[in-house]
Amino acid sequence: MRGTVPEIALNYRHAFHAGNFADLVKHAALLQVLARLVGQPLTVIDTHAGRGLYDLAGAEAKKSGEAEAGIVRLMAATDAPGEFAPLAAAVRKLNGGGPVRRYPGSPWLIAEALRPGDNYLACELRPDEHQALSERMRGKRGVRTLCADGYDVAVAQTPVSGRVLILIDPPFERADDYVRIVETLAAVRRRNSAATALVWLPLKDLETFDGFLRDLEDAVEAPALVAETRMRPLTDPLKMNGCALVLLGAPADMTAPLEAICRWTAQTLGAAGTAKVYPI
Ligand SMILES: C[S@@+](CC[C@H](N)C(=O)[O-])C[C@H]1O[C@@H](n2cnc3c(N)ncnc32)[C@H](O)[C@@H]1O
Repeated sequence: MRGTVPEIALNYRHAFHAGNFADLVKHAALLQVLARLVGQPLTVIDTHAGRGLYDLAGAEAKKSGEAEAGIVRLMAATDAPGEFAPLAAAVRKLNGGGPVRRYPGSPWLIAEALRPGDNYLACELRPDEHQALSERMRGKRGVRTLCADGYDVAVAQTPVSGRVLILIDPPFERADDYVRIVETLAAVRRRNSAATALVWLPLKDLETFDGFLRDLEDAVEAPALVAETRMRPLTDPLKMNGCALVLLGAPADMTAPLEAICRWTAQTLGAAGTAKVYPI
């Protein structure tokens, strides 16, 4: 189905970044959250889905080298904590146990984790990415894709009751992504006060990130966990120095798994990296 496509430049291509440190953190955490939510009927809405599956032998991944420094190192590691095991298993399965040539995006991981009776709605605004996504997801039980603005879809289609997980993973090429995340989370929680949301954010400078957290606290009355993975000291605000996850309405026992995921990533893949997990 085709939604309204706003007149904006969409230059971001996740193929350059698939399997990088930020994907490892996000996807390992996503699988931990999903493992805790499945079992009762679950609806997942993925606001920024991407193409679903990435070719690490393709020109984009080769050019950036980010997967080599991320998923390839994780798969070779002997000291990664058990919280990475579900992601590593998914990557192994996708690659038939051989070298890592393909990397799963959030749609692939979510579709594989669903149980009968669960639903997954994957939104992607770029028509070419959506085309690839819909081909990848064809025939998968309980899965729908939309070529549409994911923020609008989350607000309109979050079920008013029952278990819900919203994944928000924007490219942050627009300045208003921070504001739209807060507005979307507030609207989603008004519709379903039990909804869980996992948000991915870049860590460049602390002023931007702290400002976002303050706006979120003002707009949304719900406990949240923040997980920071600082790959290096935040001295250059023009660089992506790390990433953060905000987990709203978190399952009770998520602090330790998030700490393990962020700490290993920062210490093993970063340069003088640090990690911290805290409630807001
Ligand atoms: C970081 S990538 C998503 C990666 C994916 N969540 C994963 O983990 O595999 C962001 C995607 O959002 C798409 N996008 C940008 N703005 C959007 C919007 N308003 N609604 C839906 N998709 C959007 C981009 O084209 C891009 O493919």
